[in-house]
Amino acid sequence: MEGQGQRKYISAGELKEHNKSGDLWISIQGKVYDVSEWAKEHPGGEIPLLNLGGQDVTDAFIAYHPGTAWQYLDKLFTGYHLKDFEVSEASKDYRRLVSEFAKAAFGRIWVQPCC
Ligand code: HEM
Repeated sequence: MEGQGQRKYISAGELKEHNKSGDLWISIQGKVYDVSEWAKEHPGGEIPLLNLGGQDVTDAFIAYHPGTAWQYLDKLFTGYHLKDFEVSEASKDYRRLVSEFAKAAFGRIWVQPCC
């Protein structure tokens, strides 16, 4: 774990170590969240979080949730960002599409199309 300026970073390898019940971290748009306790309260159950623990889950998060789910994230933030975080072209396309649909249907976006 290391700091660059004000931000604290962990590597994808370090994130991967937190992949089990009781020690479960995920990243969404490069921000790392501790879902160890949240997994037990999650309306979608513990299984999807256990399956995807230790990874960036941005696209799954976007696919399965209404915009209202984003508000739960802040309190789960570990303070770490993912180092060398990159988004594939396919994911960028998908996120762009979701924000366009959200804007057209709801008049606002909750997914940053960039990341
Ligand atoms: C910190 C991360 C997460 C948070 C804060 C979160 C939050 C939520 C919330 C608030 C709901 C209820 C949504 C509603 O009102 O309809 C929900 C449902 C659900 N979540 Fe998550 N979620 C997280 C991660 C994930 C991940 C990684 C998956 C992977 C696929 C997932 C799969 C689902 C599914 C399938 C449901 C639907 C349950 C149903 O309607 O029967 N969630 N989640």
